[in-house]
Amino acid sequence: MPPISFTVNGKSETVNVAPDTPLLWVLRDTLGLTGTKFGCGIAQCGACTVHLDGTATRTCVLPVSAVAGKRVTTIEGLSKNRSHPVQRAWIEEDVPQCGYCQSGQIMAAVALLAKNPHPSDADIDTAMTNICRCGTYQRIRAAIHRAAQGA
Ligand code: FES
Ligand code: FES
Repeated sequence: MPPISFTVNGKSETVNVAPDTPLLWVLRDTLGLTGTKFGCGIAQCGACTVHLDGTATRTCVLPVSAVAGKRVTTIEGLSKNRSHPVQRAWIEEDVPQCGYCQSGQIMAAVALLAKNPHPSDADIDTAMTNICRCGTYQRIRAAIHRAAQGA
């Protein structure tokens, strides 16, 4: 089983795991980055979203072998103290309820804003396909607009 190397939050990592292990479990169990959550396990809910070379990606069904040589960013990599503009907007808008889906929501929102710095409501609704069982969608939308304004 050859080791697999990739970059996580700017740091090089090499792991010795079965190549078909989902990236989610490597992040959580091997690397101890537990901000990324397990929800459905079938790429439907988005709780496990990280950035792979800057693109929002669901990790529960992504084999770790597919990220060899690539750049992964998790919620822990956005900032050390919740100071990323999207994190600040989330706090200002008091978005989370239970909070379980929110790291995935934030990672999806950061990726959206990187591509479209001033999204419309329709753009947000199209891009943000992550599920929130607490129904925080209105506050997510408000926080994305706030972040887009540089708040
Ligand atoms: S846990 Fe990956 S999409 Fe739901
Ligand atoms: S805040 Fe509870 S699932 Fe989204």
